[in-house]
Amino acid sequence: MIVLSEATNQLKPSASRLAVDRSTEAARLVGVQVYTMPPDFSVCETAENALWHIPHHELEQAAFWIGYIPEPKRYQSIYEAALKKRIRLINTPEEHLRAMEFHRFYPLLGNLTPHSLILTSSDDCVRIQDELGYPVFIKGTIQSRKHDGWDVCVAANQAEAVRRVDDLLRRDIRSRGRVIVRKLVPLRYIRYVGNGFPAGREFRVFLLSGEVVEIGYYWDDPDELSCLSQDENEAICTLALEAVYQLKVPYMTVDIGQLNTGEWIVIEVGDAQFAGLSQISPLRLWSRLKKVEVPNS
Ligand SMILES: Nc1ncnc2c1ncn2[C@@H]1O[C@H](COP(=O)(O)OP(=O)(O)O)[C@@H](O)[C@H]1O
Ligand SMILES: [Mg+2]
Repeated sequence: MIVLSEATNQLKPSASRLAVDRSTEAARLVGVQVYTMPPDFSVCETAENALWHIPHHELEQAAFWIGYIPEPKRYQSIYEAALKKRIRLINTPEEHLRAMEFHRFYPLLGNLTPHSLILTSSDDCVRIQDELGYPVFIKGTIQSRKHDGWDVCVAANQAEAVRRVDDLLRRDIRSRGRVIVRKLVPLRYIRYVGNGFPAGREFRVFLLSGEVVEIGYYWDDPDELSCLSQDENEAICTLALEAVYQLKVPYMTVDIGQLNTGEWIVIEVGDAQFAGLSQISPLRLWSRLKKVEVPNS
């Protein structure tokens, strides 16, 4: 098993950079061979150049990318350049997109997650009242604007929805031309994060080859709601495994939240290669990943 890491000290400090650095260091510490590659093509220009220093492998090697959410064509080109050296990223380009883009995974998740509409224009907001009812939660197919606070993520009526949808459509990195409008569900919470966003009782589950490898509380900082009973732990694992069974992505995360009723729901899934660590110890994660059987590892 090898790692292709985008860790570099040339990027500004940020939460995502910290996660990439910590994960890369942990992979090294547990004895995984780590190769670094530039986080974009600005200097190296091509995927072949980005991987130029990596030796060709006699026997095919499974690889994990640790880095920043790539554009689809970047994932595809790194995947193909790596294959020429007999290095196979754990998720194919199709699997990567199926886990990353809401409009692709939503139809497969069915009723494991709140009812949602996929819009490509704010003209479609006329559907919201009849199909979901207000208020709604609004995000791009890749990400929400949760870092900008709760208000920019919810709409109480059509005029607000139109504004939020147009705003997200302009933010291509988050929306890639698709906005998701979701039934707003009452997640259990007892505190807000710094920007006033309610810290719902949510857990991030990492899964590899259909096995749960780690579960961690989703939000940073100590929280009374972060302790799980054995029954709760089992309920979360069962739901995460159901999601993976539907999606069939080798290495993915499933974010699971608890409603006020106590019921657990899927919030979203992701390609675990690009997922934040939440409160998971990177060292534990990487020592467990090493033990899971994956082809060519
Ligand atoms: N349908 C919803 N109803 C209520 N809260 C939600 C809903 N969807 C998401 N949230 C809250 O917003 C947060 C961010 O939403 P999420 O879909 O995970 O976006 P991101 O991709 O930016 O993480 C979630 O962690 C959860 O707390
Ligand atoms: Mg999320």
